[in-house]
Amino acid sequence: MARSSSIQLDSFELTLSEMENADLDALHALSLAVGWPHRAEDWQIVREMGRGVVARDAIGRVLGSAMWFDFAPDFTTIGMVITSPRLQMLGTGRWMMEHVLAQTGSRALGLNSTRAAKRLYQSLGFRAEKLDYQCNGEAISPPVVPLPPRTRLRALDQADLAEIAALDLAAYGAGRMPVLARLLNVSKGMALIRDGRIVAYSLCRRFGRGHVIGPVAATSDEEAIAVIRPHVADHAGSFLRIDTRQQTGAFPQFLAQSGLSVYDTVTSMSMRRAWLQGDGAQPSGGGPLIYGLASQALG
Ligand SMILES: CC(C)(COP(=O)(O)OP(=O)(O)OC[C@H]1O[C@@H](n2cnc3c(N)ncnc32)[C@H](O)[C@@H]1OP(=O)(O)O)[C@@H](O)C(=O)NCCC(=O)NCCS
Repeated sequence: MARSSSIQLDSFELTLSEMENADLDALHALSLAVGWPHRAEDWQIVREMGRGVVARDAIGRVLGSAMWFDFAPDFTTIGMVITSPRLQMLGTGRWMMEHVLAQTGSRALGLNSTRAAKRLYQSLGFRAEKLDYQCNGEAISPPVVPLPPRTRLRALDQADLAEIAALDLAAYGAGRMPVLARLLNVSKGMALIRDGRIVAYSLCRRFGRGHVIGPVAATSDEEAIAVIRPHVADHAGSFLRIDTRQQTGAFPQFLAQSGLSVYDTVTSMSMRRAWLQGDGAQPSGGGPLIYGLASQALG
């Protein structure tokens, strides 16, 4: 009997369940399938900081994910939104996002959208604000740059948490003390000190294929360069990444000179109220700006 060379299979039935019970290796396999660099350990860290759902098929395989991170009482970022490639364009992303939106109620929302996701988020009511430049590569020993006048650099330690959280709040516009506490545990941090106070800070941790610098808050390009330069020097010759909204000026120039060229862009989007403060603008001598994201999911 002649056998047909094709077969029509039923489409999947998916069920949403809490992410906290999902196997880390299954989450890792999901992000690998869409080409993301996260390690299982990187999933572990985001999972500790937020809530999430996974979409499972009838035999429990994880084929989709979405997370949200409640920062201040009224602000949430959304991230780790993934549909397994073989199920894309069938409505899974929209279905998971509708669930996330129902969970986040009337809170103000921010997210960093890939090109593939932009249409989905726009149709759900998100508005584009700024581009975020993912800069990465093999770090090059950075040029020598003098510190800004009357400043000195030192390493951060746990006792600095409250002070960097206050600086970060001024730059970010929403308090994220628990996120900073968790990241400080797994990061090397640098502080720029003027008159005994921290005026700029940076963290750097293992992530994906190498290390990532972020978050970074500073009032000027010179301060931001001062706090990231030691991380670039530490990782010269290996893979390093930073996500920044600064497109022009001394800071992105320094990144390019350090081997961290623009690899990709994502679009920062918000719903209900504008999210970003001065990010991406030229520093005006006013308050601090976010020069480096904690991650695309955390903002
Ligand atoms: C983005 C992503 C989650 C969308 O998931 P999905 O299950 O395919 O989404 P849906 O089927 O619900 O599609 C939702 C909308 O997005 C559109 N869309 C989906 N994939 C797209 C793509 N690659 N390019 C452009 N538009 C796309 C669909 O056409 C649909 O629009 P419509 O409702 O106006 O027709 C999925 O493509 C993915 O996992 N991509 C890789 C990881 C990623 O980029 N995640 C987003 C992080 S911010």
